[in-house]
Amino acid sequence: MLRGYKEESKWSGWCRPSCIPISIIFILIVLVVVLSVVDQNHLEKLSRSQMLLKKEWEECNQNCRISLVESIPEGLTFNSSISHPSTYDAWVQLIDLAKEEIEIGSFYWNLEDTRTDPNLTAKGTDIFKRLMEAGTRRKIGIKIAQNKPSAHFPSQDTAELHKAHAAEVRSLDFDKLIGAGVLHTKMWVVDRKHVYIGSANFDWRSLTQVKELGVIAINCTCLAKDLGKIFDVYWELGQNDSEIPAEWPATFSTLYGRDNPMNISFNGIKYNSYLSSSPPPFCATGRTSDLDAIIDVIDKAKEFVHVAVMDYSPSLLYSKPPKFWPDIDNRLRAAALDRGVSVRLLVALWDHTRNSTFKFLKSLQDLNEVYPNVTIEVKLFEVPSTPAQRLIPFARVNHNKYMVTDKSAYVGEFSREIYKINSFLFLTYNFDD
Ligand SMILES: *[C@@H]1O[C@H](CO)[C@@H](O)[C@H](O)[C@H]1NC(C)=O
Ligand SMILES: *[C@@H]1O[C@H](CO)[C@@H](O)[C@H](O)[C@H]1NC(C)=O
Ligand SMILES: *[C@@H]1O[C@H](CO)[C@@H](O)[C@H](O)[C@H]1NC(C)=O
Ligand SMILES: *[C@@H]1O[C@H](CO)[C@@H](O)[C@H](O)[C@H]1NC(C)=O
Ligand SMILES: *[C@@H]1O[C@H](CO)[C@@H](O)[C@H](O)[C@H]1NC(C)=O
Ligand SMILES: *[C@@H]1O[C@H](CO)[C@@H](O)[C@H](O)[C@H]1NC(C)=O
Ligand SMILES: *[C@@H]1O[C@H](CO)[C@@H](O)[C@H](O)[C@H]1NC(C)=O
Repeated sequence: MLRGYKEESKWSGWCRPSCIPISIIFILIVLVVVLSVVDQNHLEKLSRSQMLLKKEWEECNQNCRISLVESIPEGLTFNSSISHPSTYDAWVQLIDLAKEEIEIGSFYWNLEDTRTDPNLTAKGTDIFKRLMEAGTRRKIGIKIAQNKPSAHFPSQDTAELHKAHAAEVRSLDFDKLIGAGVLHTKMWVVDRKHVYIGSANFDWRSLTQVKELGVIAINCTCLAKDLGKIFDVYWELGQNDSEIPAEWPATFSTLYGRDNPMNISFNGIKYNSYLSSSPPPFCATGRTSDLDAIIDVIDKAKEFVHVAVMDYSPSLLYSKPPKFWPDIDNRLRAAALDRGVSVRLLVALWDHTRNSTFKFLKSLQDLNEVYPNVTIEVKLFEVPSTPAQRLIPFARVNHNKYMVTDKSAYVGEFSREIYKINSFLFLTYNFDD
C-alpha cells in the first residue's frame, strides 16, 4: 500500500520565484568586487585571494540549469502532476556531455550484475558500458573514489573499469582513516562544470527498483568546482598510505558555507547555496559540516519542515551497544514545540525497517497536538511490489533523503551517523533569510 505521496507534491514550492536571497557575507564579497572595478589603478595591488574571489564570484553569477531527478520504482504509479527526469537520463546526459573528465564519488558498485536477469539490469548495464566507452574509446579521464570493497560489496564494476584502463580507481578505507564508517557519497562532477548529487548508488537497482532523488546541475562551474574540492579530499584519502592531515592545504579550502553561501543563479532565479560534507575531519577550511548544515536548516524554518528519509534513528546504530544520538531529533522536537513549526516525516517501510524505528517514530508522533499548534506527523512509505519484484534483494524501497522547509531545500543524506560513520554531502537552497 502506498501512503503519503501527497508529501511529494511539496516540491512544487521548492523554487518559488519570490525568493530574495540576502546574505551579509555576500554583500561584502560584492563590495570587494565593486571596489576593484571602480578603482582600476589599484587592481595590481589586489591580493591574490581577492583576485580569486572576484573570479569565483563571476563564475557563481552565471546561470546554471538545474533540475531534480528521480528514480521511481517500476510499477509505482504516482497520481501527481509533477514528474522529473529520471536518474538514468541524468547520468546518460552527464556522460554524453563530458569532454575531458568525469569524477565520481561512490559507495559501492553493482551496475552490471551478471547473476541477475538482464532485462532487469539493462539500464545499469547500459550506464556501465557508456562509462567504459567514455574511458576507452572517447579518452575521457575517469576518476572514481569508492568505499573500500568488501565481501558484501565487491564492486566488480570498478575492478573491470580499472583493468580496461577506462578509469583510475581509489578506495577509501574508513576503518583505517577514522576508525569506522563508509564513504556513502553519490556524486558526479563532469569537466568541473556539470554535477549530480543524490541518493542513487552505482547499482542497477537504483535506476529502476529503488525510489531515489537527486539534483543535476548543468553549466554550473561555481558549484562544480566546489564539489570538485570535496572530490579532491576523497581522491587524496584514497591513496594507500593516506592519513587525515592535521590541517587541509589551502587548495581544499572553500569560500562557501553556511555563513557565506554562493549567490548563484539556478534557472534564472537567485539562490543562496552551499555544499556541506562529513565526517568533520574531511572538511577543509570553510566547509560546513553536514550536521551543522542540517541543524541550521531545521532551526531557520518558521512554518514547516518536511523530511523524507529511508532510516530514522536517533542513535548511533553501528556502535556497540547503540549510543543515543539525539542531535537532529531534538531539533525537530524543538521546531514543533517551541516555534509551532509543522513537522512531517516520510520514512521507508520495508523488510529491513528496524523495530526500534517504529518506536522512535511513535515517540515523535505522540507529541502531535501535545499543545495547541504542535504538529508532528509521521507516515511510512512502502513501495508496492509484485511477487517477482519482492524477490529482488535490497530493492523496492524509499531510499531518497531530502528535506524542504519554508526557507530551504536540501538534497543528500540524513538519518545516518553523520559525525563518524558516513560521509555524504548536500546542497541547500535558501529561499530567503
Ligand atoms: C547577487 O548578485 C546580484 C548581481 O547579479 C546582486 O544584485 C545581488 O544583490 C547579489 N545578492 C547577494 C545576496 O549578494
Ligand atoms: C487521481 O487523481 C484524480 C484527481 O484528483 C482522481 O479523480 C483520481 O481518482 C485519482 N486516481 C487514483 C488512481 O488515485
Ligand atoms: C526479456 O525481455 C524480452 C522482451 O521483452 C522477452 O522476450 C524475454 O523473455 C525476457 N527475458 C527474460 C529472462 O525474462
Ligand atoms: C552552457 O553555456 C554555454 C554558454 O552560454 C552554451 O553555449 C552551452 O550550450 C551550454 N551547455 C549546455 C550543456 O547547456
Ligand atoms: C595499493 O594497494 C593495493 C592493494 O594492496 C595494491 O594493489 C596497489 O598497487 C597499491 N597502490 C599503490 C599506488 O601503491
Ligand atoms: C521485531 O518485532 C517483531 C514483532 O514484534 C518480532 O517478531 C521480531 O523478532 C522483531 N525483530 C527484531 C530484529 O527484534
Ligand atoms: C495557533 O496558530 C494560530 C495561527 O497561526 C494563531 O492564531 C494562534 O494564536 C495559535 N495558538 C496558540 C495557542 O499558539
